[in-house]
Amino acid sequence: MYEKVFWTIPLLMLLSACSEKTSEQDVYDPARDYFTFANTDQFVTEDITLDLTVDFGTEQLHGRAMLAMRRLDANATEVILDTRDLSIDGAQLVLADGETREVGFRLGDDDEIMGTPLFLQLPDAAASAANFALNIEYTTSPDSTALQWLPPSLTAGGEHPLMFSQSQAIHARSWVPLQDTPAVRITYEATIRTPPELLAVMSANNDPLTPRGGEYHFEMPQPIPSYLMAIAVGNIFFAPLGEETGVYAEPELLDASVFEFADTQEMLEQAEEIFGPYEWGRYDLLVLPPSFPYGGMENPRLSFITPSLLAGDRSLVSVIAHELAHSWSGNLVTNATWRDQWLNEGMTSYLEARLMEVIYDKDRVDEERVLSYRELLLDLESVPADMQALAPRLDTGDPDDFQGTMHYSKGDLLLTYLENAFGRAEFDRFLGEYFAEFAFGTITSEGFLDYLEEHLLQVEGSSVGRTQVEQWLYESGIPEDAPVPESSTLHAAEALATEWASGEVDVSEIPATGWSPQATRHFINSLPAELAADRLAELDEGLGFSATRNAEIGRTWFIQVAERRYTPAYAQMEQFLNRFGRGRLIFPVYVALAENGTDLALAREMFGNARGAYHPLTEARIGRALDDADRK
Ligand code: BES
Ligand code: ZN
Repeated sequence: MYEKVFWTIPLLMLLSACSEKTSEQDVYDPARDYFTFANTDQFVTEDITLDLTVDFGTEQLHGRAMLAMRRLDANATEVILDTRDLSIDGAQLVLADGETREVGFRLGDDDEIMGTPLFLQLPDAAASAANFALNIEYTTSPDSTALQWLPPSLTAGGEHPLMFSQSQAIHARSWVPLQDTPAVRITYEATIRTPPELLAVMSANNDPLTPRGGEYHFEMPQPIPSYLMAIAVGNIFFAPLGEETGVYAEPELLDASVFEFADTQEMLEQAEEIFGPYEWGRYDLLVLPPSFPYGGMENPRLSFITPSLLAGDRSLVSVIAHELAHSWSGNLVTNATWRDQWLNEGMTSYLEARLMEVIYDKDRVDEERVLSYRELLLDLESVPADMQALAPRLDTGDPDDFQGTMHYSKGDLLLTYLENAFGRAEFDRFLGEYFAEFAFGTITSEGFLDYLEEHLLQVEGSSVGRTQVEQWLYESGIPEDAPVPESSTLHAAEALATEWASGEVDVSEIPATGWSPQATRHFINSLPAELAADRLAELDEGLGFSATRNAEIGRTWFIQVAERRYTPAYAQMEQFLNRFGRGRLIFPVYVALAENGTDLALAREMFGNARGAYHPLTEARIGRALDDADRK
């Protein structure tokens, strides 16, 4: 009998422990970041000190990262950090009195998306320490997913190499071993050693007057999430735009950049008027080579920008308004996990529109909204229903693939809907309070909903309640009472597309030179499906679409060119695919080509010729899309 009891109890304990474990894993926790290995419930990083040498010869960074950590769990003995393709050369514990101890470490199994956990076994000396530091010596891989190393031939000047980082979403771990989750905020300092003729800049306190010489020091005194750590090194120079604003670029692009982004200082001033104080000191731009994968990246104090915005007419600067607006929505108040990304991107799209309205005018905002709305409607046709919610379940896949019009455009629509319901004054009051309340913190979609309910929805006579907002957050499609963007100028362009197609109007009568680039894009999008090649030729000759300097017009036109198989423009389409590397511009052109029923092989050929100049992330994404098209 005793024997039986003796065996049964541990067995029961074991069973219940197991079932607890499985149920814990099965229950989806919307507040958890599923894309980090870090044990942030036991330790959090508060500060990182980097000392890195930038080696263009081997395309590696090497040096060390010292992580100042705070203990949350008195019994925890192991720190787990995120890494990807890092080689770890050593690790030491640094105690408060400066004493050091070697730390035993090992890398775990590789995960294709998440990278490799680094397990650090804390020596006894850290057993009770509430604060300690870990010094990690490491070297990055030439294949680091965050870093692109460009040979001189892929820069504007053609004489010096250039490297830059893109950490969002989970690539910071491929250049710094850290807790790579937006839930943890860190301050950082860095010493960066480069070839003496090149300049290093970071998402930190760049001093426009820093002399060259190959050793640069940075400080980021405001706590930021890891995805905002950023670095670039190259033959870059500074030019001021205003008191607190300026632009870094290769000298060949500096004048064009100063012209294009001349409104940045005013954007900053207007943003402070509407959203509250700018908490970051300076606001500068860094114009990168064409391979930069995004339109812009909101690295704090220094947004990284695609050169494809240099249209010569300031028509694409909504991207600058967008990245600047992230200084509030995203950088100041940060999405708690990648699932809450609409809080970064949707709110920023709304703030971007508000800025564009004061700097330019409402017509321009309406035009941009109609164009985005069209992209949203197209996406709703292909995005699976459960991923159409603003705050869907997100615990698998690659968070880089989890971005698109849904967050941007649907998120913007929700905020516009709230503005309409409560009035601009009331909504601005709410936004200001929201930024102040959550400044330098993170927020989940549920946290936002609760705060919204308490601070806005409860206004007397409110027609919008929690249920309506929940529909936006958790359900597919667009709610029936959502605002529908309208633009009278785009209506006119749309009408002309039909009139021209039916022969009522001649190309020479289309007032395209007086149109905004947005109207031109809408005109192109509104052309009827059936159009003979000679009619497209008529348009292209009359309006010069294939030769456009405007990257967004080019994108819109070449998508049509590929979908319609308008082969006379294929040579210029290929030039376009070689000239730009921003994913948004080229990806849909490749897809249109691959899916037009005839040109998959041609798409592969063009991709084969161009891919060497693309960013590895863009290259991989296009490669996957072409493989998918192959299987269809
Ligand atoms: N933060 C994003 C870029 C991003 C998102 C990088 C998710 C990695 C993962 C940036 O602010 C952005 O939204 N860029 C847009 C421009 C914007 C005007 C829509 C882009 O690159 O097109
Ligand atoms: Zn953004």
